[in-house]
Amino acid sequence: MAVVLGDLSRDAERVRLTLAEEVQLVETLQGLITALDEHPTEDLVIIGADAPLSVATDIAERYRIERPPLGVILLRRRIELQSLSEALRAGIREVVPADDAEALLLACTRSLNVSRQLRHVEARSGDSTRARVILVMGAKGGCGKTIVATNIAAALAATGEGRVCLVDLNLDFGDIAIAMQVDPVRTISDALGMKGGLDQDGIRSMVIPAGERLDLLLAPRQPADAEFISVDLIEEVMTLLTEAYDYVVIDSPPALDDTVLKCLDLADSYVLVTTLDMMALKNAKQTLDTLDALGYPRVRWTVVLNRSDSHVGLTGDDVEKAIQIPISVRLPSSKDVPASINRGVPLVRLSPRHPFSRQVIALATAELSSRALVASDERKSRSRLGMRLIQGTSS
Ligand SMILES: Nc1ncnc2c1ncn2[C@@H]1O[C@H](COP(=O)(O)OP(=O)(O)OP(=O)(O)O)[C@@H](O)[C@H]1O
Ligand SMILES: [Mg+2]
Repeated sequence: MAVVLGDLSRDAERVRLTLAEEVQLVETLQGLITALDEHPTEDLVIIGADAPLSVATDIAERYRIERPPLGVILLRRRIELQSLSEALRAGIREVVPADDAEALLLACTRSLNVSRQLRHVEARSGDSTRARVILVMGAKGGCGKTIVATNIAAALAATGEGRVCLVDLNLDFGDIAIAMQVDPVRTISDALGMKGGLDQDGIRSMVIPAGERLDLLLAPRQPADAEFISVDLIEEVMTLLTEAYDYVVIDSPPALDDTVLKCLDLADSYVLVTTLDMMALKNAKQTLDTLDALGYPRVRWTVVLNRSDSHVGLTGDDVEKAIQIPISVRLPSSKDVPASINRGVPLVRLSPRHPFSRQVIALATAELSSRALVASDERKSRSRLGMRLIQGTSS
């Protein structure tokens, strides 16, 4: 539901039809404040075209500190530069022409996506014991997601800085069991019988140890099970994993499906694996554009160029120009990579000094530092809060 502030019920009716959901119409600023107090999880306010700009800026300014996930969208009959900059300065998320239903729908979708992410950040803040979640995604099938995910997980576990769970989100055709040569006697399918009541004992009964500090949560043995594993179940499992481990590394399927989108919400870091070919490049760009539009911040991306030494006419510079994000890690092509899979041991474990391993270890080390940085930021903000409380009581 969205709350619409407008003089005329046609504002609400137009929004209701555009968003295809119920809206609550309020006619005064006070009415809006009351409605928002009554609905603390409401994340969207639309200010009708007849409301004065000052009312809209007052609302945005009031709530942007008090309630950051709340998005304010302003409808205007004419959009003037002066009022547009005033609106954006006040924290209004978008200004949309009053008669453009498509623009309104897009603005509302973008705003709700931003809100959803802010709510996740809010829910997680102040919790440095929670695992850092690293989602490994690929520009196309076969570009090296599983190799990268497996080696990052093994590299993190080898640092001794915490416990790691490697999750195979390729629910139809997971490869982690093969890459690590383990018998998939337990898999995520075991969660189906515990849905809604899953706990840490349940999680422990599903994972398979794969060396010191490294556990695996494998994909179903039967691809047919995949359709029963819902997004809600994935969220339930992931939430418990983040409580039990220090790092959760997710190997994802080639497609950007609902489960991957859910994991994007939960992840702290997105590792995009790409290769030097036009199809991978086009897909990488499309993936980034889609995620930009959905509001997933670019600062969380790490781009990995796999098989970076292939001489195929494209260069790393071409990739960087196309996707507008620097490549963080360049992994060489090596026959030792498939050989390590055939032995079921990640290359970082077999040969930590191998050029491929050194690069993966650098990536894992960057993740360790990011986690340490988040923890120290939290400690600092807790001590700042403590100082403010102390100052507050003494004054
Ligand atoms: N740097 C590399 N050097 C040599 N071979 C590699 C390298 N990276 C990946 N490979 C090989 O490419 C194949 C595909 O790798 P991988 O399974 O990791 O890709 P993927 O993106 O996970 O594929 P899928 O989309 O099917 O899940 C594997 O046989 C792997 O051994
Ligand atoms: Mg794979």
